[in-house]
Amino acid sequence: MTARRRAACPSEERPERAFLVGVEWPSGETGAGPARLSVHESLQELGRLGATAGLTVTGHTLQTLRTGPRPATFIGAGKVAEVKRRRQERDAGVVVFDDDLSPAQQRNLERDLECKVIDRSQLILDIFARHARSQAGKLQVELAQLEYLRPRLTRQWVHLSRLGGGVGTRGPGESQLEVDRRRVRERIASLRRKLDEVDRTRTLHRRERQRVPFPSVALVGYTNAGKSTLMNRLTDACVHVADKLFATLDPTSRRLELPGGQPAILVDTVGFIHKLPHQLIDAFKSTLEEVRRADVLVHVLDATHPRWTAHRRIATRVLEEIGAGPTPVVTVLNKIDGLGPQPLTGWETPSEADANRSPEPAAPLRVSAKHGLGIGPLIAEIARVCGRNQEVLHTVLPPGSGALLAWLRRNGAAVEADYTDAGVRITARMSPKLAGQLRKRLARHETPAAVAVRSAWTLRC
Ligand code: GTP
Repeated sequence: MTARRRAACPSEERPERAFLVGVEWPSGETGAGPARLSVHESLQELGRLGATAGLTVTGHTLQTLRTGPRPATFIGAGKVAEVKRRRQERDAGVVVFDDDLSPAQQRNLERDLECKVIDRSQLILDIFARHARSQAGKLQVELAQLEYLRPRLTRQWVHLSRLGGGVGTRGPGESQLEVDRRRVRERIASLRRKLDEVDRTRTLHRRERQRVPFPSVALVGYTNAGKSTLMNRLTDACVHVADKLFATLDPTSRRLELPGGQPAILVDTVGFIHKLPHQLIDAFKSTLEEVRRADVLVHVLDATHPRWTAHRRIATRVLEEIGAGPTPVVTVLNKIDGLGPQPLTGWETPSEADANRSPEPAAPLRVSAKHGLGIGPLIAEIARVCGRNQEVLHTVLPPGSGALLAWLRRNGAAVEADYTDAGVRITARMSPKLAGQLRKRLARHETPAAVAVRSAWTLRC
């Protein structure tokens, strides 16, 4: 953050005071599309997002919109007057809407309410801007923010900088609002070029990792479910953990030892949320690629959250959206240390079709990442799922095949070897990735070992 922006950020002097506005649709849910939380739950979550962004929430109001949002002000004229009165009584300098506002609605509301107005997407973008640590994370957030701001950069637009900075204007927003549309377009193009570079580097790293043919396992789930805590419990990653939303934005990978000596790569990534802004999904595509490319997903749920089943559906929806829908999933109910004695309700046994696609057990695994409960069974389940589709090679390798055996073991194959006069009779279980590499490695060789493996494979697999 530049010195100028820091000076303009009131949250560092006294917290900004906010008033929240939610809208209920006739179905009882909030917003269109994949919304699965009730309006009250969604507003509660908006309050947590506000607190994470440094706001003091002073109150909220709801409106049921039977005939859809008003084109000019989203909510009705009477409600606008009520919000103006209540936000003034509470000395709130910002009004946060739980739904996306069009640029025109936002502009009109700022005029009528005489204060800054932001929507949920802008609030989430602001939190991402605060939490981005790596260069790539900062570029991704800046791109998402500029894509959000671009349609709002019109002649009639009242610059947010004139409204005093603070929430919704952190990151690149404030300085970029002072430049014209052409420069914003240029900046977006330059960010895209830089992110293409990040993408290329990440692809190279991923290829490196794939050359080491360990299965990759991605921790996914709703924000604050405990993914980073679980990452730290399973590996020595030292990922930042905090009781706030979107504490982790950058992917972290570590080696995970599975039973039987099979290593895997465990990846921790960004969390998901109800109404995740599409600009973020676009901008974070190289981060989300880590999830899409994973061999197995560990879906972490916060079992103490009253709406963990809704969180599960929302995260599953995002996974489908980014193309990770078909990946096998291990579902984990985390934070069981915080559960009372009453039985947990809400687990839906997967349908037969789902069970065939995804090898989920009939009941989820229960763990406490914080206190180390249920970790053994979780690692065993990850190993079981990684081990599905393993290829098995039975053959007799001629004498002098020690280097090949060592290579197999080094790369995670479980090898049983029986030394006989004719050679080494082996049974080797390995991931499809390793089997593919072994085939490639031996394809051009006419050594006795290569011929033995190739012919065994032709017969057996
Ligand atoms: P994002 O970065 O927002 O996606 O969050 P995350 O899913 O990585 O969650 P994180 O690991 O940062 O944990 C969020 C909060 O939950 C922290 O305060 C953790 O201490 C707490 N937490 C995580 N696991 C457990 C657990 O097993 N039991 C309890 N009681 N708290 C936990």
